[in-house]
Amino acid sequence: MFRKKATWLSALFVWLMFAAGAGHALGGDTGPTGQLQLFHNGGTGSCDGCHIIHPQGGIGNQTAAASQYMLLGSDPGSTCLMCHQKAGLVGPTGYFISTPANEMPAGIPPKQLTPGGDFGWLNKNYPHDSGYTHGHDIVAADYGYDPSPIYLYAPGGAFPSGSLTCTSCHDPHGTYRRNVDGTITTEGPKICASGSYDTSADPTTDCPVGVYRLLGGAGYQPDGASKPFMANSPAAVAPSVYNRSESLTQTRVAYGSGMSEWCANCHTSYLSPKQSHPAGDDVKLRNLAKNYNMYSGSGDDQGSEAASFLSLVPFEEGTADYAVLKSHAKNDDSYLRGPDGSANVMCLTCHRAHASGWIYGLRFTASQTVITASQEGKTVWPGIDTTGDPLGRTSAETSRAYYDMPASKFSRFQHSLCNKCHIQD
Ligand code: HEC
Ligand code: HEC
Ligand code: HEC
Ligand code: HEC
Ligand code: HEC
Ligand code: HEC
Repeated sequence: MFRKKATWLSALFVWLMFAAGAGHALGGDTGPTGQLQLFHNGGTGSCDGCHIIHPQGGIGNQTAAASQYMLLGSDPGSTCLMCHQKAGLVGPTGYFISTPANEMPAGIPPKQLTPGGDFGWLNKNYPHDSGYTHGHDIVAADYGYDPSPIYLYAPGGAFPSGSLTCTSCHDPHGTYRRNVDGTITTEGPKICASGSYDTSADPTTDCPVGVYRLLGGAGYQPDGASKPFMANSPAAVAPSVYNRSESLTQTRVAYGSGMSEWCANCHTSYLSPKQSHPAGDDVKLRNLAKNYNMYSGSGDDQGSEAASFLSLVPFEEGTADYAVLKSHAKNDDSYLRGPDGSANVMCLTCHRAHASGWIYGLRFTASQTVITASQEGKTVWPGIDTTGDPLGRTSAETSRAYYDMPASKFSRFQHSLCNKCHIQD
């Protein structure tokens, strides 16, 4: 087993004894209130943000796993959502990635617009597609998230759906660090900061930074996995404000490399093109980059390379150079350059990592021939309240599934966004 369980356990027990004796001396500014500005800071947050420090102080109906690990929530995922879901938010806010089910009555979409997507879509049922088809069915019992009723294992792999939760992908202890020489290790000087943002400090010899989004790297063995991860954490950079409506400007994560390989830690055989759409560091766009750059809507191929980026169809730049990636992660449309031939397709070209408003957690629907509608001469998002083929959604829901981008950005008879690379219409 890769993680040194004994060391961790003794660390926790030493800490517990200390906390009991010292009357919770370290607790001060932490707790499951969601008010913190910094918690993980790229590495390990305060133990008491997630673990029960006073053993008699447990809450909820703890599962075996939760009591085994002395977690504050009923299970690992519920422990994360104590801070990552919040009731009563009016719109996309900070690091929240889930909308409570009771805030999404029929016709009303989830609120959060992070690159990974709002898990709330898993609770939105439509006539042609139930909620659980909208992405990764995480287990988080306190928040109404149950395992997938259809997949026993990750398609193309062996990871069991019943174990799938936040810590299947994110290392709760943030042990993976990006060093000054670009290597990723679990040992070394203490992590000084997050490495996920355009504003993040660069790593120095004394101060490595966290890997992108605390994603488990090579050797990570989440609960339920029969084998450790083979592929390392991917290279990517998000703009520091990343949870926002894209009605005026797009949120551009600069994806660099390694994302598909990372997904294949669980979806092992999907890296082989016979199993799914080709994806991976070696699936270069080559001549299709020209299509991406000139396509700006059905029947409109007047686009330019300088302005062709579309966050609904992102690509990897084919680099792990963080100076480059940091200069491309923007939320103000100041960098909209499209791909060159050495960019590549990745799983997140079409899917969101968490969940989306579409079946299979896709960024755009592949189930409608025409994805826009027309109302009083204007191009709008289709809905049961307008025209078109709304798939049972209101136009508010369709619009949110497209991150509030205006439909007028697209053609009046816009076809599937597969056309961004394979212009067919
Ligand atoms: C962000 C939440 C979070 C924080 C902060 C956190 N833990 Fe954990 N810890 C977990 C979860 C969740 C598990 C259960 C295993 C899993 O899901 O990965 C766990 C498991 C453990 C385990 C047993 C399994 C293992 O990984 O070896 C130990 C020991 C542990 N934590 C100690 C600590 C100590 C000590 C700290 C503070 C330095 C800490 N944890 C901080 C969430 C957290
Ligand atoms: C005590 C509150 C708290 C808990 C519990 C908590 N988080 Fe967080 N999380 C935060 C805050 C605050 C931020 C934003 C600032 C930061 O990154 O430190 C954040 C940010 C993150 C990020 C982005 C970090 C980056 O550097 O890119 C990830 C990923 C994340 N959390 C995952 C988790 C997971 C997985 C768990 C459960 C194991 C968890 N969090 C539990 C408060 C919490
Ligand atoms: C299947 C793997 C997977 C699971 C399960 C997962 N995440 Fe993530 N998460 C990711 C990836 C990959 C990203 C980066 C997405 C991107 O940049 O496009 C991410 C991004 C994030 C972020 C940054 C905001 C965003 O959405 O981009 C936070 C915070 C976060 N995850 C927390 C969580 C919490 C909390 C849970 C459980 C409720 C969870 N994640 C479950 C893979 C996962
Ligand atoms: C830790 C293991 C793990 C990782 C890493 C992982 N997945 Fe999954 N994935 C699963 C499991 C288990 C299922 C089946 C259960 C479910 O649908 O949630 C699944 C299901 C899916 C589905 C089908 C969802 C649906 O609603 O039908 C898609 C699409 C998917 N994964 C894409 C990805 C992408 C893209 C990545 C990388 C960003 C990724 N996965 C990383 C474990 C994983
Ligand atoms: C070019 C877009 C695209 C890319 C790239 C892509 N997918 Fe998909 N994926 C789809 C579509 C569309 C579906 C819906 C089912 C179908 O038509 O095959 C899907 C379905 C899935 C499913 C649901 C089960 C199934 O096979 O039907 C999983 C799991 C999945 N993809 C994982 C991945 C992973 C992992 C990667 C990266 C290795 C990836 N996908 C790359 C578009 C894509
Ligand atoms: C970001 C660009 C991009 C997008 C978007 C995209 N593709 Fe592709 N597609 C590619 C590349 C690159 C290849 C591989 C071409 C090659 O190497 O021959 C490919 C290959 C294919 C192939 C041939 C598969 C094979 O095994 O040879 C099909 C079919 C296909 N794409 C369908 C789709 C569909 C359907 C969608 C939308 C769900 C889609 N593509 C979206 C870039 C893209």
